[in-house]
Amino acid sequence: DTVRIVGAPTDYGTNRRGVDMGPSAIRYADLAAALSAIGHTPRDHGDLRVGRVESDDPGRDDAKYLAAIESVCTRLADDVSDALAAGETPLVLGGDHSVAIGSVVGSARDADVGVLWFDAHGDLNTPVTTPSGNVHGMALAAILGLGEFAETPWANAAGVDPETVALVGVRDLDPGEREAIREHGIAAFSISDIDDRGITAVVAEALDAACGRDGVHVSLDLDWLDPTEAPGVGTPVRGGVTYREAHAALERVADAAAVRSLELVEVNPILDDHNRTAELAVELAASALGKRIL
Ligand code: ARG
Ligand code: MN
Ligand code: MN
Ligand code: MN
Repeated sequence: DTVRIVGAPTDYGTNRRGVDMGPSAIRYADLAAALSAIGHTPRDHGDLRVGRVESDDPGRDDAKYLAAIESVCTRLADDVSDALAAGETPLVLGGDHSVAIGSVVGSARDADVGVLWFDAHGDLNTPVTTPSGNVHGMALAAILGLGEFAETPWANAAGVDPETVALVGVRDLDPGEREAIREHGIAAFSISDIDDRGITAVVAEALDAACGRDGVHVSLDLDWLDPTEAPGVGTPVRGGVTYREAHAALERVADAAAVRSLELVEVNPILDDHNRTAELAVELAASALGKRIL
């Protein structure tokens, strides 16, 4: 298949600088070659034009740089939806996790799409519940139209039903996020569920919950993995999934589901150890797009 690579070099959604270099770091880790090696045709569309936090105004404390993020995500959504209309698989390179708003809005346009959210975090805060004001911690809430995000055009454009979203591997939730999971019936599989039942069983359940008629969007925040494997992230949380669990999960997703679109987010080469987090992101993208050992 043709895989359209779209870079979204943002760091508006986080307070750790450097995640805007994620798209370069992932390309430097030989993404295109990894896709070609498994029979795909990579088409790199370059990076979206993104402003700089130094020259932009955060605007408000409870959702910093929201206007700038909206501008990036509106353009990203169009690119993702154009790729799909051209029969290509969109592969979005972040940037912080706020870019998922654009990826999902684009992927779900005129389609019924489930969302698999592989993350240490729930990203379900709203401007009322956020402890940080960082929009990367609100991305999924924005997609689902929770709280004041009900008033933005995003959620309606995506039309994603909370009941077709699954969080996998969460281990750091804020109180308001726990409440959102309960209130909206979002399938959430914690790292303890993976300890108890194993990654294969958990991923099978997540796929059941998050099956859209037109496939799934896979949102992969690299802080999903244990920081010993993925040190180059801005909000590391101990006790993450292992290297093998991560590959197993994405292989099962590729086997079971139509991966409609994929994104790799929160890779921060400034915080990394010799670009190994970007290299891991490339490997995991290959597993999600069909790479097998035999
Ligand atoms: N829950 C915290 C917050 O709202 C951390 C979010 C981290 N999100 C991420 N995409 N890395 O600020
Ligand atoms: Mn839709
Ligand atoms: Mn995270
Ligand atoms: Mn995240």
